[in-house]
Amino acid sequence: MSSKPHSHAQWSSRLAFTLAAVGSSVGLGNIWKFPYMTGESGGGAFVLVYLICILLIGLPILMSEWLLGRLGQKNPISTMSHISARLKRSPAWVLIGVAGVLGAYLILSFYSVIGGWALAFIADAASGSFETLTSDTAGSLFGGLLGDPTTLLAWHSAFMLMVILVVAGGVAGGLERAAKILMPLLAVMLIVLVGYAATTDGFADAAAWLLTPDFSKLDKDGVLAAMGHAFFTLSLGMGIMMAYGSYLSDDVNIGRTALVVVVLDTVIALLAGLAIFPVVFSNGLDAAAGPGLIFQTLPLAFGRMPGGEVFGVVFFVLLVFAAWTSGISLLEPIVEWLEEKTPMSRVGSAWVAGIATWLLGIATILSFNLWSDVAPLGMFAKFEGMTIFDLLDYATSKLMLPLTGLATIVFVGWFMGRDEVRSQLNMSDSAFSLWSFVARYIAPIGVVVVFASSL
Ligand code: PHE
Repeated sequence: MSSKPHSHAQWSSRLAFTLAAVGSSVGLGNIWKFPYMTGESGGGAFVLVYLICILLIGLPILMSEWLLGRLGQKNPISTMSHISARLKRSPAWVLIGVAGVLGAYLILSFYSVIGGWALAFIADAASGSFETLTSDTAGSLFGGLLGDPTTLLAWHSAFMLMVILVVAGGVAGGLERAAKILMPLLAVMLIVLVGYAATTDGFADAAAWLLTPDFSKLDKDGVLAAMGHAFFTLSLGMGIMMAYGSYLSDDVNIGRTALVVVVLDTVIALLAGLAIFPVVFSNGLDAAAGPGLIFQTLPLAFGRMPGGEVFGVVFFVLLVFAAWTSGISLLEPIVEWLEEKTPMSRVGSAWVAGIATWLLGIATILSFNLWSDVAPLGMFAKFEGMTIFDLLDYATSKLMLPLTGLATIVFVGWFMGRDEVRSQLNMSDSAFSLWSFVARYIAPIGVVVVFASSL
């Protein structure tokens, strides 16, 4: 007598589900974005706030998205309308799904450009150009790339094409199998890099800088950045995890699986930090260099370590792979939505969504060269000097994702029946009480307070 529409297939196993979730969450956010934001925000205090946000805000929202998805059994927009109708709640909750699709579009537009940078660096690593780098010329390869819109466009196109082809072909299964090998390899490569970093004389200072919070270095915007990044890195607030949850079978324990994903995601980010900052410190580079940080630092490290040419190629290949699995998860919700709302086929939808995203990506490319002085919202003091790329990043990580995430957890915490949530989470009494408390009070209040203080 189950009224739950089983509209699609389910994950073959808990492992397959976990892999797909890890594939979406581990990506450029961990290896590219986390280090450069930490560098811009002064180190340890940022890391600590980020970790707190992951645990008290990210983890409960991840669980909420999965349980909604498993209940709704559809794409995020239909899931929200289905559940809110059944519970006689306002149809406005559908906006959670709509905001998600828009957020995914905006993020993928710049994500693909950065994925293109990683592709370009595979070629650089293979050509041996890392070996001649010195502290003074560390940024030269990256600087040259940024100043060349045509080359950037070529790599952005290549990355976008990789994403479109997989989504159009619906062959993500093969990728999932590859993820089983490649994700652990990425962790191994990061450990190799940390091993190299440990031999440099900046290691102790860098580790202390990363792990000892100095709150005088963190301003309110840094706190908002840390919270926003918790959403970004876990792929939250976009309906992506909700869509994944719709494939989740009833016997999977949501809490335990969420913990696995969160821990893996966090460990990868911290390893990236530990690999990069010692090289920054021991070469007198600028920790606050911004989005180019890893592309200025890692080539120097690979250029100096024994076997660096091979390691460099392997590393950037793995980075591209991690970015690819995340990029696929970003295109997927847009394609699903187009497929449902228009007469287009899956293949047609994938191409239309992909080309639209690719077009917007051009604005990000130009933000780093020809349009680097263009600040569309420069008339507001808060957005002074921010390029289109900066604005896209701000609008998504600092506004849309936290707001959508907030709406999600408020819905689960306050608008759904306790018993229904409880039966989905399948926890002991005390664990559920704790979860409820965090989901109803700590997480929403946390998001609101961080928002209010930074506005
Ligand atoms: N979580 C991915 C990363 O850290 C990026 C991403 C964001 C993917 C949002 C999907 C949705 O790289």
